[in-house]
Amino acid sequence: MAYQVIQDRDMLLKACEESGTRFPYSDDISVLATPIKVGSKTVNNRIVYQAMEGCDGTYDGAPDTLTKRRYLRFARGGAGIIWFEATAVLGEGRANPRQMYLTPKTQDDFKRIVADIKEECMRANGFEPIVICQLTHSGRYSKPEGTPAPLIAYNNPIFEKDNPIDPSRIVSDEYLDRVCEALVQGAIDAEKCGFDGGDIKSCHRYLLSEILSAYNREGRYGGSFENRTRLLTTAVKEARLATNKNNFIITSRLNIYDGFEYPYGFGVNEGEGITPDLSEAKRLAKILVSNGLDLLDCTMGNPYFNPHVNRPYAKGTYEPPEHPLFGVQRMLDGISEVAQEIKGTPVICSGISFLGGVSANVCSGYINNGGFDFAGYGRETLAYPDCASAITSGANLDPKKLCICCGKCTEIMRCKGGTPGCVIRDTEVYMPLYKKFVLGKE
Ligand SMILES: Cc1cc2nc3c(=O)[nH]c(=O)nc-3n(C[C@H](O)[C@H](O)[C@H](O)COP(=O)(O)O)c2cc1C
Repeated sequence: MAYQVIQDRDMLLKACEESGTRFPYSDDISVLATPIKVGSKTVNNRIVYQAMEGCDGTYDGAPDTLTKRRYLRFARGGAGIIWFEATAVLGEGRANPRQMYLTPKTQDDFKRIVADIKEECMRANGFEPIVICQLTHSGRYSKPEGTPAPLIAYNNPIFEKDNPIDPSRIVSDEYLDRVCEALVQGAIDAEKCGFDGGDIKSCHRYLLSEILSAYNREGRYGGSFENRTRLLTTAVKEARLATNKNNFIITSRLNIYDGFEYPYGFGVNEGEGITPDLSEAKRLAKILVSNGLDLLDCTMGNPYFNPHVNRPYAKGTYEPPEHPLFGVQRMLDGISEVAQEIKGTPVICSGISFLGGVSANVCSGYINNGGFDFAGYGRETLAYPDCASAITSGANLDPKKLCICCGKCTEIMRCKGGTPGCVIRDTEVYMPLYKKFVLGKE
């Protein structure tokens, strides 16, 4: 079955009929151009450019040529919030040797890129965006030297199959205490670098996200809801205390549902397969807010084992078991459900690139119906970095610039040394890289 990114309302209606899905829809997208308060700051508009890692930093972990190019394009694009990509807080938790890494050595480089992003957006759009730093430990996906060096919360047969990871790679409670300290230090350093906020990343099954489903782990970080959420809730609370509430946003990109059955997934019940149950996510969201969280960025799934949940696509490495719109609906309805629990704390959605030409209408529909507060774009930002200014000026998105959800950015990312970007719409730079890394042709 071939799928195609949605171009317009007629195509949406037809695809909704085929897939048995329904979305709120607003012809008037002006709500996306309205400002909103987040913590002590005012955000210019309701568009977020989600964290999009380029695996293209220096080996020290500072932004390099392609990184700078990407963020200047994003800055010109006019989003209210730019979510700076996954940035490691511990060397052994880097997902690749060129992943961003915030250290005393790289701090000046981070200062410079944040200042450049703000200046470029001000020059192009007349306002400064909010720039959030995504603080991470990659856990089972750690590859600091380019080869897997997993650090796991527990063994997971769904991921490990016939090759169980040596139990010596299961991190101790004391190690997790150190991860918490490093995340808090990361927030302090991010504030020093001029970022407007720090994201205690807990999504896509990297370390903090994996712990949310550590039902069978012993000790302080496993078993009960309180133990499984301890690392995230403590890091948020301490990061809030360690930074200036009047100057710095504390947020988290949170997996509210993993899409794996109990006891290997968050957001499911024992004996109910992969049917979502968001009660723990809602309970967690409330605790995070009471611990000082200013903003919640929600997402679902895992990019390696169920990418159809994480980023509904037209083309990928396997035929999705459901229509991509079904995945988009699960994501947007689920995020709205969590948002209801923390009214007053803004919530960002994810997974909307497949909605293409109607993404702004559908997100406006959700926002106007009291769902979430921000439209969070992922792959679209690589294909169409100016999509935010088009949307906030009230224009229709140009079908010739839209992301086609072909998966080529991820294909590059999965190759050793690969630096992902949009092969289709940013061809001059990324087609040669696709040929080099994926097709093996220089
Ligand atoms: C190349 C690539 C890099 C990504 N890097 C990150 C990242 O650094 N941090 C993160 O939380 N998500 C990352 N994501 C996930 C996206 O932010 C987003 O959640 C996903 O693409 C679904 O949204 P979309 O449908 O708008 O693309 C990445 C996705 C891709 C394809």
